[in-house]
Amino acid sequence: MLKIGVIGTGYVGLTTGIGLANFGSTVMCLDINNEKIQQLNLGALPIYEPGMDELLRDNVKAGRLTFSTDLTFGIQWAQIIFIAVGTPQAENGKADLSAVEKTAELIGKSLNGYKIVVTKSTVPVGTNEMIRAIIDSFNANEYEFDVVSNPEFLREGKAVYDFLHPDRVVIGVSHPRPLDMLKQVYRPLYLNEVPFIITDLRTSELIKYASNSFLAMKVAFINEMARLCDTVGANVQQLAIALGKDGRIGSKFLHPGPGFGGSCFPKDTAALTVFAREKGMPLGLVEETIASNSRQKEFIVHKIKGRMGAVSGRRFGILGLAFKSETDDMRESAAITIIDQLLREGAMIRAYDPRAMENAKKIWDNHQISFGRDEYDTVQDADAVVILTEWNQFRNLDIPRIKSAMRESYFFDFRNIYRRKQMEEYGLIYECIGR
Ligand SMILES: NC(=O)c1ccc[n+]([C@@H]2O[C@H](COP(=O)([O-])OP(=O)(O)OC[C@H]3O[C@@H](n4cnc5c(N)ncnc54)[C@H](O)[C@@H]3O)[C@@H](O)[C@H]2O)c1
Repeated sequence: MLKIGVIGTGYVGLTTGIGLANFGSTVMCLDINNEKIQQLNLGALPIYEPGMDELLRDNVKAGRLTFSTDLTFGIQWAQIIFIAVGTPQAENGKADLSAVEKTAELIGKSLNGYKIVVTKSTVPVGTNEMIRAIIDSFNANEYEFDVVSNPEFLREGKAVYDFLHPDRVVIGVSHPRPLDMLKQVYRPLYLNEVPFIITDLRTSELIKYASNSFLAMKVAFINEMARLCDTVGANVQQLAIALGKDGRIGSKFLHPGPGFGGSCFPKDTAALTVFAREKGMPLGLVEETIASNSRQKEFIVHKIKGRMGAVSGRRFGILGLAFKSETDDMRESAAITIIDQLLREGAMIRAYDPRAMENAKKIWDNHQISFGRDEYDTVQDADAVVILTEWNQFRNLDIPRIKSAMRESYFFDFRNIYRRKQMEEYGLIYECIGR
């Protein structure tokens, strides 16, 4: 059985660890965050991901999955080491590679035999070569090792499913030596005929940025169409259906909303554009995607004010804080920008999210905004309700109950969940986007 160490136990590392254990390898998940590892050792998940609980339990019980903060031990124990630490956005827009560099240094210092080092973190072109150089510079005993790029494409909220059923697996290598072992790691996917794209390190690194930038561009595009539909009185929902029927376009990622967020699209588009500019090859489309997404968030606040007038002293019940449904992740959520702008203009905010409340409380304290217990508690005495995340439980609200709890009757549905006619029949002043 293969012994795999996964360094970094966040959304990607934890999913990778659990997923690879489920494929049959013995996995040790490693992290410097003691609290996370303690929690996992008690059988509790530090993040919310549908379906992860059960897989965690099964694989721990089967003896294939352990958790530790002893990184050196884990590196020495493993034959294959996955790097899944964070690569957040630095101030200059670039990817902050400090955690990757520290990890590479520790791997170099800890080597005790041949290992394969697999980079799952999203990293700019050239980083895997840098990882190899760092490991080499600390590899006093000159053990052999290979560095492999294996970017991850999972979606938060569907992380487990995506890891077990990927559209493709991308593997970048500079040498064919590690390929057989990697095929073994992903054997169940090989047997299921998942496409494997074997390429060089640089192409593999760039595939990840190109994928995220393309998806971000698609979202920004449909949001622009929604803004235009609003202006000219057309219907973006029907437009998206018609567009999506064209096989060359496809129907996914054509849902207008308050602007894309999350831990990937914003930072990855930023990192790619800064990197490309540095190389003298600016990416106009991706740069404009970032700008267009900022305009979408401004447009949302503009729409609210267009309907209500000044927001100072008005009470808002915000439903949904996570950057999308089925996750507790609030990183770069459009809700942050929109709420902060409303606060700056003197609005009073009460907010609720089924999963992201803990993360929200790290962003705003109780003096800045208040937090509702549920949807109905959140909209009590509100002048306006604003839906920002498309949680299923917001699709079936008891609208008469909402209406009677409110002080004024503004209902902003920025995920286009409800129908205007129905909402107006309930006496609400309804606004959505692009319809
Ligand atoms: N979240 C996603 O949907 C997603 C999807 C695909 C790829 N990615 C990429 O995967 C990488 C990880 O993303 P994430 O969302 O899982 O991040 P995360 O912030 O949820 O997790 C990162 C983990 O790394 C740990 N860590 C940081 N420095 C460390 C170190 N020196 N040694 C050991 N552990 C360390 C942190 O404690 C944390 O638990 C990023 O490069 C990201 O761009 C993320």
